[in-house]
Amino acid sequence: MNHGYTYQSALTSSQAICWRIEDIIGGTKRLDFSKPFMPESFARVNKLAFLNNEEKLALNQIRGNTYLCIFGLVEEFILPFVLDHARTQLHSDDYRVRALIQFASEEAKHIQLFKRFRKEFEDGFGTDCAVIGPPEAIADAILAHDPLGVALTTLHIEWMVQRHYVDSIKDDQDLDPQFKSLLKHHWLEEVQHAKLDTLMVEALSAGRSEDQIMKSVEEYIEIGGFIDGGLKQQVEFDLDSFQRATNRELTESEKQEFRQVQLQANRWTYLGTGMTHEKVLETLESLTPKARQRIESISAAFC
Ligand SMILES: [Fe+2]
Ligand SMILES: [Fe+2]
Repeated sequence: MNHGYTYQSALTSSQAICWRIEDIIGGTKRLDFSKPFMPESFARVNKLAFLNNEEKLALNQIRGNTYLCIFGLVEEFILPFVLDHARTQLHSDDYRVRALIQFASEEAKHIQLFKRFRKEFEDGFGTDCAVIGPPEAIADAILAHDPLGVALTTLHIEWMVQRHYVDSIKDDQDLDPQFKSLLKHHWLEEVQHAKLDTLMVEALSAGRSEDQIMKSVEEYIEIGGFIDGGLKQQVEFDLDSFQRATNRELTESEKQEFRQVQLQANRWTYLGTGMTHEKVLETLESLTPKARQRIESISAAFC
């Protein structure tokens, strides 16, 4: 594939960016609970016409907390996966080893950053919000799959972060500046991860037959199905958190509409934006055109 990504250039870019958690949150840097945390394209609260503006804001912020939780979860499997991949060749290419260890170190920092923001949310929101987990069990379930399937899932997540920031967050002037800063700083480092993931997919697919590659693509789809199951559960948690936070019991038909709109909003946020990302599709196509076609045949359900 003619992408021009190298371990050395990813490492150089990463070293130039390098921020600390303390630069982003803490001290005078606090969440502003009078502002939304998520862009409307992900939160989709305006579709729920039976909610007033205050209730829409509360749901938007609950979805912001969910975003912190979902990223906390996925980074828990990416960290050991990248370390394991680095370990297979510690003595051949110094830039490879250093770039992958830097990648893992940044994901460990992101896990801590998302935890730090969740603590900030808990302190300021005033209602306990349940989230799916525990992260270790979810990571174990994902890592039980074929490494190429896991690498494709990781590629999906990294490009998805690019799209979230560039298409939906960067130019949204209504978002809380602190939450926006979190998403910006995360994006800055994920740019390099997406390139390194592309190299990981290439390494793991080398020498595989088309049938073996398509089996891994099915494993990527299975992991997507597993995440989708988690999102269904998360929507139930978010419904419960919303009702407690706003002291409002929705009617049965309102609950049904909430579930339907919010599940699709979550699907777009965490599955659709990755599965339809042109860079993910290009990498799949470089493995075999059938891989791209297979994902394109199912992605509409997550958009
Ligand atoms: Fe990350
Ligand atoms: Fe990442």
